[in-house]
Amino acid sequence: MKFVVTLAAALVATSALANAPAGAPASKGDPKAAESIVTQVCAACHGTDGNSAAAVNPSLAGLNAEYLNKQLTNFKSGDRKNAVMGGIVATLTPQDMLNLAAYFSMQQPKPGTSKDQELALVGQKIFRGGVQGAGVPACASCHGPQGKGVPSQFPRLAGQHSDYIYSQLNSFRLGTRSNDAAKMMRTIAAKMTDADMKAVAAYIQGLR
Ligand code: HEC
Ligand code: HEC
Repeated sequence: MKFVVTLAAALVATSALANAPAGAPASKGDPKAAESIVTQVCAACHGTDGNSAAAVNPSLAGLNAEYLNKQLTNFKSGDRKNAVMGGIVATLTPQDMLNLAAYFSMQQPKPGTSKDQELALVGQKIFRGGVQGAGVPACASCHGPQGKGVPSQFPRLAGQHSDYIYSQLNSFRLGTRSNDAAKMMRTIAAKMTDADMKAVAAYIQGLR
């Protein structure tokens, strides 16, 4: 039995390296064990491969496992509030969440495309250089130059639906999302205008 467990762990580590979206960390989760929950519960909104079709549901593919596990844990504790996800995590155990986090972190994110190229160009400036004079730092300084994230603290953003990115920025600004360590995102979003948020969100959707 010990041998089987060790072998499984080795396989997980190998395939995590092979897919390596932004250096997915080897986590304590077992992606195989998450499969039935994925198909029965998560797939309807997030896609079986973690690439969601609807813009209100974030894609999860390639987000790092520690970030995913933190979000699930935060939904469960109420530190991150969302009516839909709050209900879903209620029945999940801590091990289920680790398994699900490992599963989605190993899925390959599909590249997205900005729908509004002109707006995306404005957003690119903000992403790379921040907003001069307003005290908004470059998103790239924490989320990486290509938005691939820096494990385990700074999540991947590249290719995410712009509607979801905008809704999260707005939630950080309003303080309705407040699970960011050291208020990092709340402080930044408070200095952004609605136009800044829409522009940077448009850029992020097409970022690869
Ligand atoms: C009915 C649709 C629905 C189902 C089913 C669903 N989700 Fe979600 N999920 C959402 C929505 C909507 C959000 C965005 C919540 C917000 O705005 O804060 C979300 C957010 C998340 C996030 C945060 C992503 C991020 O980038 O921060 C994670 C992680 C997540 N879901 C995992 C799961 C898992 C795992 C399952 C299956 C156990 C699941 N979800 C099932 C709709 C759903
Ligand atoms: C000082 C570091 C830092 C900078 C700069 C920064 N972020 Fe973040 N960002 C974070 C952290 C940390 C989180 C994760 C919060 C959590 O743990 O839930 C995050 C989360 C996010 C999320 C939520 C992702 C998701 O999947 O739900 C979005 C959207 C986001 N950042 C956008 C931006 C944008 C746009 C900029 C530039 C205007 C930016 N960030 C600049 C640290 C930063």
